[in-house]
Amino acid sequence: MADHPEGSRPLWGSRLGFILAAAGSAIGLGNIWKFPYITGENGGGLFVLIYLGCVVLVGLPIMMAEILLGRASRQSPVGAFAAFSRKGSSWPLVGWLGVAAGFVILSYYSVVAGWALHYVLLSLTDHFRHLQPDQVSGIFDTLYGAGDINLFWHLLFMLSTVSVVLAGVQGGIEKTCRVMMPALFLIILLLVGYSLFLPNDGFLKALDFTFTPHLERLSRRSVLEALGHSFFTLSLGMGAMLTYGSYLDRQASLLKTSLQVVLLDTLISLLACLMVYPVMFSFGLAPQAGPGLVFKSLPMLFAQLPGGLLISLAFFMLVVFAALTSAISLLEVVTATVMDRAGWSRRRAALVTGAAIFAFGIPAAYAGDGRLFGAWASMFGMNFFDTMDYLASNWMLPLGGLFIAIFTGWVMPEAARREAFGAPAGRAWLYTGFVFVLRWLAPLLVLLVLLHKIGVLQELGVMGS
Ligand code: PHE
Repeated sequence: MADHPEGSRPLWGSRLGFILAAAGSAIGLGNIWKFPYITGENGGGLFVLIYLGCVVLVGLPIMMAEILLGRASRQSPVGAFAAFSRKGSSWPLVGWLGVAAGFVILSYYSVVAGWALHYVLLSLTDHFRHLQPDQVSGIFDTLYGAGDINLFWHLLFMLSTVSVVLAGVQGGIEKTCRVMMPALFLIILLLVGYSLFLPNDGFLKALDFTFTPHLERLSRRSVLEALGHSFFTLSLGMGAMLTYGSYLDRQASLLKTSLQVVLLDTLISLLACLMVYPVMFSFGLAPQAGPGLVFKSLPMLFAQLPGGLLISLAFFMLVVFAALTSAISLLEVVTATVMDRAGWSRRRAALVTGAAIFAFGIPAAYAGDGRLFGAWASMFGMNFFDTMDYLASNWMLPLGGLFIAIFTGWVMPEAARREAFGAPAGRAWLYTGFVFVLRWLAPLLVLLVLLHKIGVLQELGVMGS
């Protein structure tokens, strides 16, 4: 089965270590940057409710499937699919698809994290104080257009990511997450606490916006967006949870640990709304500002708030921490695959894969610059950055998730699956329910999203856009 004898694969030092590392992977730019703005665009409460439904019905089972596959095979994605399918089958390709997704996502994720690093520096130098709103949003536009500066931060962020992965599962990933995740929780609680006291009932309005469902504000599209986002935010569909699961001991309860990770991720997304919206509402702005919400609008308000320097520093540090603990999981998938497949040392694999991803991300760093790679945009109608994000989050992750559900539900031998699930006595229905969802519900829902994307449903007249 596995190339590794059981004893030689590193394991997490403790169960808490696994949970913090997996939550660290899940909690990232998806929670703090993306969730508040897409919830804003989709009208708030009802979107949140539907998103929660997607997380429970599709996200949780697929997370369990990934951890199960990793733990049962003790392999990174490619080997995991090989371990439970016939020799010569094409299933390992799904593993490679995941590795490619990790490679692609990290290449631009690192550029966004670089923006946050830049804003940490700007906060430190109290750059936002007394600036006019249009000057503040101008900062972002200038940064976006300055390829060399983006390249510098991209390099710095990739170096940090590589240095963590290089230090190994326990000494690098687990140790970093053990420090950064509690710091992240603390910062977000402090910021939400601060938001409580903002003028003009900002917090109450934020609560109302986030939790009161309004049917009329929702479009059919929102449902699909909610499902798509649940993959990205839970790090599903590309083998990150699978790889982390391959370092998990066999006694840990699959359901309980997955549930904890999902709950933490969801909690942080909701808290992010309760941190970002009050600031917007209390200054009379709407939360529909789109992708620029965090980088353009918030600093506008930090410029006027009492204690703005500290608040904006804390906020952008939070974004950097969240991004780093996600980035290490992306790199770990690629690095672990090279180690498992080519037999390279961790050091060599981390350095080479990290350098390759850095190089691949260079066009993303120059996406807004136009000096280099300008031809890309004219060829594909989207710049390099947007093309990669579109490919990865709209196609690679949902496709990967679909195949993972089908593989674990239909292809993996029953005996191996049952043993790896390890249902506690008297709870056999849990296992039955899990397999049912993996076989039917999860694939059908994901398929619906993909069919909608290629326009099949619209053509059949089933669904408007
Ligand atoms: N879940 C991370 C976030 O929300 C992104 C990510 C996706 C990380 C896929 C790993 C794998 O930002």
